[in-house]
Amino acid sequence: MIEDLWYKNSIIYSLDLDTFMDGNGDGVGDLPGLINRLDYLHSLGVDVLWLAPFQPSPNRDNGYDITDYYGVDRRYGSSGDFVEFMNHARKRGMRIILDLVVNHTSDQHPWFKQACRDPQSEYRDWYLWSKKRPSGWNKGMVFPGVQKAVWTRHPKAKAYYHHRFYEFQPDLNMDNPHVRAEIRRIMGYWLQLGVDGFRVDAVPFILEPSQEPKGELNFEYLAEMRQFLQWRAGHAALLGEANVAPKDTRRYFGDGRDGLNMMFNFWVNQHLFYALASGDTKPLEDALEATRQIPDATQWAMFLRNHDELDIDRLPKQRRDKVFKRFGPEPGMQLYHRGIRRRLASMLGDRRHLELANSMLFGLPGSPVMRYGDEIGMGEDLSLKERDAVRTPMQWSSERNGGFSTARKTVHPVISEGPYGYQSINVDAQRRDPGSLLNWMIKMIRVRKECPEIGWGEWALLHTGVPGVLAMCYSWRGNQVVVLHNFNRQPQQVRLVMEGEGCERLVSLLDTDDSKANRKGHHDIALTAFGYKWFRVGGLNYALRREPAAPDESH
Ligand code: NOJ
Repeated sequence: MIEDLWYKNSIIYSLDLDTFMDGNGDGVGDLPGLINRLDYLHSLGVDVLWLAPFQPSPNRDNGYDITDYYGVDRRYGSSGDFVEFMNHARKRGMRIILDLVVNHTSDQHPWFKQACRDPQSEYRDWYLWSKKRPSGWNKGMVFPGVQKAVWTRHPKAKAYYHHRFYEFQPDLNMDNPHVRAEIRRIMGYWLQLGVDGFRVDAVPFILEPSQEPKGELNFEYLAEMRQFLQWRAGHAALLGEANVAPKDTRRYFGDGRDGLNMMFNFWVNQHLFYALASGDTKPLEDALEATRQIPDATQWAMFLRNHDELDIDRLPKQRRDKVFKRFGPEPGMQLYHRGIRRRLASMLGDRRHLELANSMLFGLPGSPVMRYGDEIGMGEDLSLKERDAVRTPMQWSSERNGGFSTARKTVHPVISEGPYGYQSINVDAQRRDPGSLLNWMIKMIRVRKECPEIGWGEWALLHTGVPGVLAMCYSWRGNQVVVLHNFNRQPQQVRLVMEGEGCERLVSLLDTDDSKANRKGHHDIALTAFGYKWFRVGGLNYALRREPAAPDESH
């Protein structure tokens, strides 16, 4: 079967080493801890792990401030541990992608220190400088309210340096060919250690021209990275973080060979949250249509939550306000005037709503990206600063520190109070409870994997005539899957009119509630409040006919 492009149809799971599992009892998660939990992830059904940055770092931005691109921060283990980890992942057939954080370094990186110390140093031109304070020094901040400027004066360098993010993250000068060559070396290094690709941090900013006024983005730099990646490792992929409007996404994917292999679909994500907040699915349908056309060899990464705030900046104000009101009504829940620093389960509250959202995640056209802890419905800790609220340690059991660590003090406090405390929300308890969210997730992932149509196929919106019900049909190699989601708080009755071979029979993939068409060929289907249904068209055996028979086998 031709399914070489693994990223077209994979279950991706994202985690931070420091909060996943502590193997040595020092309060910080690490590689040996993660190795111990690989069987858990494997049995959950995870195909790909995306690891947040773990290289040496002063850790002022959760590791997105690197001081050595070729190392492993001592807190997480050694390079030897990384190789061991890769071997364990490989044995289980899991793929690994790493964060590639090359828009900026830490201000403690030896390159930047040297550049500040010595204007004649070769590293001076690795960063962006200005003798005078540029006019746009306080424009275009990524963290408004927390960040004061994008140009800050460095006393030692006696000049202003550019930083799109916090002032301790000086931007690299991509126009310098030595910087680009170094980035290729970094990629080459980790590829050689066996990783399957990179989640590229802050793509639009990497491509930003170094000179003011900043005009067109330098997409040729992205093409350069992609070409290097593919020449070095044919199977590897770039998953880009670029929160851009649909009209711009085409450029990031390029022709499928000279841009990103995958991109997070921020557009659909924000409209999905609007649909969850309001019950109105029309803008979500439009968002799906707007992001439909992508090159064959590329794919969307669909997600609900990640390690940052839920960013809803791209919604029109009225819709954004609705999402704020429903999911982040208190000022302490909101961040940077554009997002909500909460976890999925605590935002949605209701188990039915949570299942609906997760069923959507698996039923959207792309590869789903899960966030650690969301499979058990973890909450947030709003007493922590900024985005740290959603970065509390994984809750494994009802033991001390939720089984995450035996240390007295942990990297972030484990949630230990209220309905999301580790005493009630943890893997151990849910593993034994057949009705738990965890077991529901395992089932959903299995069903998703039985539907390759979703990753590979064409999709169409089906007309139900009922507002707030999203109905989609995926087709691939003569097989079809139908997914229905009711965003309304009330039960709904929908009528599907389908045509084609096998359409008279819809076999339910999640329960035994199959649907048989009436004499007119209509399916009348009842959806509960926030209900969802997954059907295979024609019967389960249809899935077996995925590849056309070879000529000599056809009789
Ligand atoms: C995007 C990452 O997702 C975020 O966590 C980080 O702070 C910035 N890039 C800067 O690297």
